[in-house]
Amino acid sequence: MSRVVLFDEFGGPEVLRVVEEPAVEPAAGEVRVRIEAFAVNPLDRMMRSGTSSATISLPHARIGVEGTGVVDALGHGVTGMAIGDPVIITAVPDASVRGTYADFTTIPASRVVPRPAGLEAEEAAAIWVAFSTAYGALVEKAGMRPGDHVLVTAASGGVGRAAMQIANQIGAVPIAVTRDSAKKDQLLAAGAAAVIATDHENLVEAVRHHTGGTGADIVLDVVMGPGQQDLVQAARPGGTLIVAGFLDPRPTPFPAGTPLTIVSYRSFEHTLDPVVVKRMAAFMNAGVRLGALRPAIDEVFAFDDVVEAHRHLEKGLHEGRKIVVTV
Ligand SMILES: NC(=O)c1ccc[n+]([C@@H]2O[C@H](COP(=O)([O-])OP(=O)(O)OC[C@H]3O[C@@H](n4cnc5c(N)ncnc54)[C@H](OP(=O)(O)O)[C@@H]3O)[C@@H](O)[C@H]2O)c1
Repeated sequence: MSRVVLFDEFGGPEVLRVVEEPAVEPAAGEVRVRIEAFAVNPLDRMMRSGTSSATISLPHARIGVEGTGVVDALGHGVTGMAIGDPVIITAVPDASVRGTYADFTTIPASRVVPRPAGLEAEEAAAIWVAFSTAYGALVEKAGMRPGDHVLVTAASGGVGRAAMQIANQIGAVPIAVTRDSAKKDQLLAAGAAAVIATDHENLVEAVRHHTGGTGADIVLDVVMGPGQQDLVQAARPGGTLIVAGFLDPRPTPFPAGTPLTIVSYRSFEHTLDPVVVKRMAAFMNAGVRLGALRPAIDEVFAFDDVVEAHRHLEKGLHEGRKIVVTV
């Protein structure tokens, strides 16, 4: 049997409940993972509250897009892994059916990669979404290179923290943006080469200052909204604006002004492509091994406290550090 977190209606954290059901046998090409820990993501809150664009059929919706565990059973034809192997789950596009908030989930074998040695289960549960998003946007899409000045919005967030570590691993120069100057020291400690606090500084002038007058080579915008105008002005002519998130719900004016390459990024275009997933996993492995990449953990909850974990997420005090549940 498998404990599974379900919800039958959209709503607050209290709609989540734990049931016991038979663990699903893997079909051909699938693998069953015994989950050891899963992360609680903003996307989970959107699914639970009914604000995600994903199709969710109620009642009996599962939840959870990332997690880690060990291979528990193999479907016919699965090669390259064995029962007991520690793995990371890379993407669960149908989380309402195969979600990671459970003792077991059964997913296509192509959706797991070996767990990097040296990561605790709590960290491994929290690495994939943020780091694959930042890697996919900056490296695969924007072609980040050593020496590039990379402007990282919402740098204190999960994707922002990962982006700064990845930029440092490659030898690029991450310039962090926050709305709150009180966060400057923690962002420098998290890997920022410089921090721009928009409550006290003019973003465009500060970027000019930190880039020797040229502007940012790459701007990672996970905020959007009217603030994107300044980001466009802060980029160097011919630079790249990569749009990967939407933290600001206000409308985003058309980005006019500096000639830029503008690219939007959605994780699933990469995390469902085995060739890119292999590169992502290799990059993360190397980064963990070298000590360059490490997810920041906020708080770890027990499985029975999953509602509390979501309440904690709702408070918004985790500041980009991941909330993890152990199973
Ligand atoms: N493209 C993809 O496939 C993909 C994958 C994962 C996530 N995302 C998206 O990327 C975005 C960031 O995700 P995340 O997990 O890093 O978020 P997060 O951890 O919740 O980010 C929190 C930080 O964002 C900043 N922030 C919050 N609201 C803001 C606003 N209105 N304006 C400016 N900054 C704001 C705050 O930093 P300060 O207070 O320091 O300013 C806050 O500390 C989200 O929109 C998420 O949905 C996209």
